[in-house]
Amino acid sequence: MVPPAATASATTSPSQASVGSPGAPAVKDPAKDTILTPRFYTTDFDAIAAMDLRPNEVELEAICEEFRKDYNRHHFVRNGEFEGAAEKLDPDTRRVFVEFLEQSCTSEFSGFLLYKELSRRIKTKNPLLAECFAHMARDEARHAGFLNKAMGDFGLQLDLGFLTASKSYTFFKPKFIFYATYLSEKIGYWRYIAIYRHLEQNPESKIFPIFNFFENWCQDENRHGDFFDALMKAQPDTVRGFTARLWCRFFLLAVFATMYVRDVSRKEFYEALGLDAREYDKVVIAKTNETSARVFPVVLNVDHPKFYIRLERLVSNNAKLSEADASGAPGAIKVLRKLPYWIANGAEMAKLYFTPAIRSEQFQPSVR
Ligand SMILES: [Fe+2]
Ligand SMILES: [Fe+2]
Repeated sequence: MVPPAATASATTSPSQASVGSPGAPAVKDPAKDTILTPRFYTTDFDAIAAMDLRPNEVELEAICEEFRKDYNRHHFVRNGEFEGAAEKLDPDTRRVFVEFLEQSCTSEFSGFLLYKELSRRIKTKNPLLAECFAHMARDEARHAGFLNKAMGDFGLQLDLGFLTASKSYTFFKPKFIFYATYLSEKIGYWRYIAIYRHLEQNPESKIFPIFNFFENWCQDENRHGDFFDALMKAQPDTVRGFTARLWCRFFLLAVFATMYVRDVSRKEFYEALGLDAREYDKVVIAKTNETSARVFPVVLNVDHPKFYIRLERLVSNNAKLSEADASGAPGAIKVLRKLPYWIANGAEMAKLYFTPAIRSEQFQPSVR
């Protein structure tokens, strides 16, 4: 489902100015859609417009005031360090790094489209929320634009207008949008800050100057996450009661498992930064889980002895699925080959899901 205005919004995104102009970088075809690639979302705009914010209006006002300050207004400015930096990478590192840039750019851009569309659709009925979404769209456009410029250093650029029109949009009810975007903002914060801190300690692994920008960048994601935290508290039923507990568990698991499988499958990128993908993900998962306890009623028991054993089984099943996909076999044979791994993945996910979760008030009483 394509929000009709999204296409028009994309044409004003800052990152496309040079696409198609003489001497501009080649336009890169978007990566093939899989369960692991970033998604584009749409939602029930009328339901969000009608939301009563009174239960947590003061906090939302305060967050909006922070957004207005626009701390990173002058942050995303390229400097001389970028000149010639791309040429220094060897071909293998270059390949995995461009993939990283593309995935990151796509997910930042997906945030931009959703927030922009939300702010436009609810402007008259819910001005405070509309303003918050507009500020977040501003930030995400900057992030996506900055990443796309870095792709330009490698002679490539994502055609964001084409991406807007050609990607399929997943419809989520508002509360599911809140869970998914809250988690993606907070996980984004922990991912960026973990890389930044690691490279601060190991400057010899800083393969590209874009990482110097991560510290302030991740503060944007942190503020975005705080906004969704406050918004869920303004709609207390989203994070209260039995059904909310089931859904929060589901989203935590889906987000953690997807990230783990994807990062391990492109571990070469993390190796290029001197990081072990598995260790890096364990830190990011533990931190995001802990942060989520501030708003979600439950979090996962990521220290359960079977937690990572099961995620590893997903990793190996996924490798088999990719092998089957890559084989030249006819479609029906491929499906037959893949079937046992799909079933195995379903079973592992079910076991992970039914591992008893931890009530947040028991997990981190001090922050609630
Ligand atoms: Fe972002
Ligand atoms: Fe964000």
